[in-house]
Amino acid sequence: MQRIFSGIAPSGVPTLGNYLGAIRNWVALQEGHACLYCLVDLHAITTFQDPDALRSQTRTQAAILLAAGIDADRHILFNQSAVSAHARLAWIFNCVARVGWLNRMTQFKDKAGKDREAASAGLYVYPTLMAADILAYHATRVPVGDDQRQHLELANDIAQKFNHDYGVTFFPTVEALVPPEAARVMSLRDGGRKMSKSDPSDQSRINLTDDADAIALKIRRARTDAPPLPSEAAGLEGRPEARNLVAIMAALSGRSVAAVLAEHGGQGFGVFKEALTARVVATVAPIAGEAGRLLGDPAHLDGVLRDGAARARAIAEPVVREAERIVGFLG
Ligand code: AMP
Ligand code: TRP
Repeated sequence: MQRIFSGIAPSGVPTLGNYLGAIRNWVALQEGHACLYCLVDLHAITTFQDPDALRSQTRTQAAILLAAGIDADRHILFNQSAVSAHARLAWIFNCVARVGWLNRMTQFKDKAGKDREAASAGLYVYPTLMAADILAYHATRVPVGDDQRQHLELANDIAQKFNHDYGVTFFPTVEALVPPEAARVMSLRDGGRKMSKSDPSDQSRINLTDDADAIALKIRRARTDAPPLPSEAAGLEGRPEARNLVAIMAALSGRSVAAVLAEHGGQGFGVFKEALTARVVATVAPIAGEAGRLLGDPAHLDGVLRDGAARARAIAEPVVREAERIVGFLG
């Protein structure tokens, strides 16, 4: 059975973008794979996190993943810092990866912004830790949104160079599993920016903890242009906000963009937004409700993560020990 690994940073509350780009796929892949899903708290602190907020967001994310259908008994749900193998392998990968490779990472450029000198060193080596997350388990399939493709190519470059430099065939090739629709959900305020849990504007995103009223209000206020929806996908050219709402509708209703436009083409946004709100609420409200219930018992959530970490450790420890032996550490 192929092993799946994926991660999400507990740097905020997960959004509809996380759900459509990643989490929904994580749930589906549980059939037929052995899955590890990781709350990447080491990645989260590459930008400063208030310690209390980090603790609470880690629990909230665990609750949301369980509420969305992650089965922590049959698969593994844990937080990254609880398994030291990630950080140890990341260090080895820091010494395998080249500065030139890291300089090409577009996420670093986006996140560091204009003042790159002021970014943390951790943010710069973020992708080597991500490669370690996956390869510490010899995982081969990684369900992610479109924005993570470049990081997975880097993981493959690192694995290949490690194998080549040490003359081994130790690390496998990893494959990105990116959904066909809504692999990149955009902000509700700006069709040129990704919907992000760390965007300062809460109006820019649907949180997986939002209730029906909050969702309705955010969609009603979502930025759009004036003309009605086109009847064909080509008509969305140059209309990023309209394209985004249609893509969300397509992903939520399991249809293509063309099929959504065949039904809604010619409608004004008032009507379309109501239909979209109903779809979003039908998906998000049950998750938010169940997550809220789970959050009433933080000790149980902590127990789930602890148990997941113990099982994750049992897989990663021998792999990373072997990598350390290959490199020449006495151990
Ligand atoms: P992050 O929120 O950066 O920790 O991302 C966790 C997962 O959600 C990754 O697989 C991302 O690719 C995915 N993801 C994050 N934001 C979006 C978005 N706006 N659209 C689609 N996928 C996303
Ligand atoms: N970098 C990913 C993101 O921001 C999160 C992540 C960390 C991840 N480690 C991973 C995703 C390993 C897949 C596999 O979205």
